[in-house]
Amino acid sequence: MMSHYRQAIAGPPSRTAPSSMRVLCICGSLRRDSYNRRLLRAASELAPPAAELVLWDGLRAVPPFDEDDERAPAPAVVALRAAIEQADAVLIATPQYNASLPGQLKNALDWASRPFESNVLRSKPVAVIGASPSRSGAARSQAEARTVLAAIGADVLDVQLAIARAFEQFDTDGRLAAHAHRRNLKQILEQLAARARDSERAAAA
Ligand SMILES: Cc1cc2nc3c(=O)[nH]c(=O)nc-3n(C[C@H](O)[C@H](O)[C@H](O)COP(=O)(O)O)c2cc1C
Repeated sequence: MMSHYRQAIAGPPSRTAPSSMRVLCICGSLRRDSYNRRLLRAASELAPPAAELVLWDGLRAVPPFDEDDERAPAPAVVALRAAIEQADAVLIATPQYNASLPGQLKNALDWASRPFESNVLRSKPVAVIGASPSRSGAARSQAEARTVLAAIGADVLDVQLAIARAFEQFDTDGRLAAHAHRRNLKQILEQLAARARDSERAAAA
C-alpha cells in the first residue's frame, strides 16, 4: 500500500530514534510496480535514524504547467509546494524516458520553480537517484534532473545512484538486494542529511 504525503514510508521496526529531519521523497514514475518507488522504500530502510522519509504521491494530480494558471494554481500544485517547503531535504528517484527525465516529473519541477526568486526548491538540499531495466540505470535522466534542479536554484548533491537491470535488483519482498547498492544508497542518504543539517545551521547563524 502506497504511503501518502505526511505518512512516513514504513521503515524497519527497530527504528525508534526520534525523527528531527524530514526528507520528502518524490518518485518520477506513476507506475504501480515502479522500481523507482521500490528504491525509495529501500531508502527508508537505510536512512539515518534522525531522518523521517515521507513519500509524496501527488504527482499524477499535478496539471500541465500553464503560466496562465500561475495566479491560482491547482490544489495539487499548492500541496506540492507545501510539501517541499516543509521538508528539510528532497530525494528524487527517477526512471529514464527517451534519454531524459519523465515529463510528469519535469512538469512538477517546473511548477515548483515558480515564482522563481522565492521558489520552494531554492537552496533546498536535493539528491537524485534512479533505476531502470537497461544497463544505464537511468544515469542520463538523473543527470538531466540535476541540471533542471540546479537551474531552479536547489542545493543539488553531486551524487548518482544508477540501479541498472532493475528487474534483478529487488528480492521477492521488493527489497534492494545488492550490498554495494545498499551501501551507496546509505551514503547518499547520510550526505543528504548532513547537507540539510548544514543548511539548517547556516540559516540559524
Ligand atoms: C516512454 C518510455 C521511454 C523509455 N525510455 C527509456 C530510456 O531512454 N532508457 C531506459 O533505460 N529505459 C527507458 N524506458 C524504460 C523504463 O526505464 C522502464 O519502464 C522503467 O521500469 C520505468 O521506471 P519504473 O519502474 O520506476 O516505472 C522507457 C520507458 C518508457 C515508458
